[in-house]
Amino acid sequence: MSAPLRLVPLREDHLERVRVWRTSEEVTRFMYTDPVLTPEGQAAWYRARVLGEPTSRWWIVEAEGRPVGLANLVDVDAVHRRCHWGLYLGEPSARGQGWGAQVLRALFAYGFGTLGLERMVGEAFAWNEAAVELYVKEGGRVEGRLRHHVYKRGAWHDVVVVGILREEWEARRGARGAEAVVEER
Ligand SMILES: CC(C)(COP(=O)(O)OP(=O)(O)OC[C@H]1O[C@@H](n2cnc3c(N)ncnc32)[C@H](O)[C@@H]1OP(=O)(O)O)[C@@H](O)C(=O)NCCC(=O)NCCS
Repeated sequence: MSAPLRLVPLREDHLERVRVWRTSEEVTRFMYTDPVLTPEGQAAWYRARVLGEPTSRWWIVEAEGRPVGLANLVDVDAVHRRCHWGLYLGEPSARGQGWGAQVLRALFAYGFGTLGLERMVGEAFAWNEAAVELYVKEGGRVEGRLRHHVYKRGAWHDVVVVGILREEWEARRGARGAEAVVEER
C-alpha cells in the first residue's frame, strides 16, 4: 500500500509554493477571485490569518513527502459549532486519483472528531462538477444554490452550498475509505 497522505500545518517556507499554486490558472479558475499575490503580502497574510486567527486551520497536503495541495477549515465558530472547509490540489497531475477524497475525509474527521463540530459547509461554483460531486460522494448534501453569488471575469456565477452534519458523518463510519493523516501545529 502506498504511504498515506498527510496534512502538514502550513509553514512560512510553504508560502512561495502556495502563491504560485493559488495564482496558477489551474487553481484560480475555480476560486472566487483572481488575486495578485506578492511574497511580502503572503508573509503578512500568514502572520495575520494563519498564525493569528484561532478560527482557522491551514495545511499543506503532502503525498510521499511532496507538497501537492492546500486544505483549510475557516470560520470555525465555537458557539454554533460549524465551519467552512476548502481544498485544492495545486498540481493538476495530482488530481483524479482519490487524493481529494482522502483530504476531505480527513477534514471531516478533524472538524467533527477533533473540534467537536456539529456542521461543516463547503462551497463551489455550480459548474465545478469535480468539487460538487466529491463533496456529495463523501456524505455532504446540496443545501442550496446561491444564484449570481460571484462576479468574475465579466460574468455572474452560481455557487452550490454543500453541508454535512455530525450525525451524517457518524452514520458513514463503516463506509469511509482511507483518509489523510492530520498533523497538529
Ligand atoms: C476538486 C478536487 C479537490 C478533487 O480532488 P481529486 O483528487 O481530483 O478527486 P478524487 O480523485 O478524490 O475523486 C473523488 C470523487 O470526486 C468526484 N470527481 C473528481 N474529479 C472529478 C471530475 N473531473 N468530474 C466529476 N467528478 C469528479 C468523483 O465523484 C470522484 O469519485 P470517483 O472517482 O469514484 O468518481 C480537485 O479536482 C481540485 O483540486 N480541483 C481544483 C480546485 C477546486 O475545485 N477546489 C474545490 C472547490 S473550491
